[in-house]
Amino acid sequence: MTAVLRPLTAADVDRVLELEVILFGPGAWTRGMYEEEFRAAGRRYVAVEEAGVLVGYAGALIAEESHIMTIGVAPEARRRGYASMMLAELMQAARRHGATSMILEVRADDDGPQQLYRRFGFEQIGIRPGYYQLEGVDGVVMRADLEGAALPGRTPPPPPRP
Ligand SMILES: CC(C)(COP(=O)(O)OP(=O)(O)OC[C@H]1O[C@@H](n2cnc3c(N)ncnc32)[C@H](O)[C@@H]1OP(=O)(O)O)[C@@H](O)C(=O)NCCC(=O)NCCS
Repeated sequence: MTAVLRPLTAADVDRVLELEVILFGPGAWTRGMYEEEFRAAGRRYVAVEEAGVLVGYAGALIAEESHIMTIGVAPEARRRGYASMMLAELMQAARRHGATSMILEVRADDDGPQQLYRRFGFEQIGIRPGYYQLEGVDGVVMRADLEGAALPGRTPPPPPRP
């Protein structure tokens, strides 16, 4: 099936809220939280559509130290590379901005998402005890170094003078 990667907009919030409960249970974000995110500075949100239906979404704060705010894919659309597409896009946006690193928090009790992040160069840098307060689950803090990674289309610097 052909998937389309596009910006996530305020018009998608109803569908996103439907998925939030399925994906994040008691930690689901509310409409107000999404509206705030869309108003906030430096955010980039993307979505993946399959046959015109939104099946995944992700967002980041793009800054010198960028931060993945959320990422989720509908259960029926997993392991098709959609989270990878969105993560690659957000990391690329951060690099274009000149970010030096990207960080995120992920549940300590589920290794699946951590495996995804490790594939993109994220490494564990700490634990936030009880970060997911409503469920009493620790958060693993992961960080990826964005410096030195190749930027497609960037002209290489001239060679040093002899
Ligand atoms: C985590 C999540 C976003 C992954 O979405 P996805 O579209 O299925 O991920 P991808 O297809 O891009 O996965 C790429 C690779 O990551 C790894 N991976 C992803 N999900 C995995 C899982 N559940 N278990 C083990 N490895 C996993 C695999 O290496 C996978 O490659 P493969 O399918 O060739 O083996 C999705 O499972 C999800 O929405 N989970 C619930 C919400 C959540 O936990 N979000 C993250 C919070 S920080």
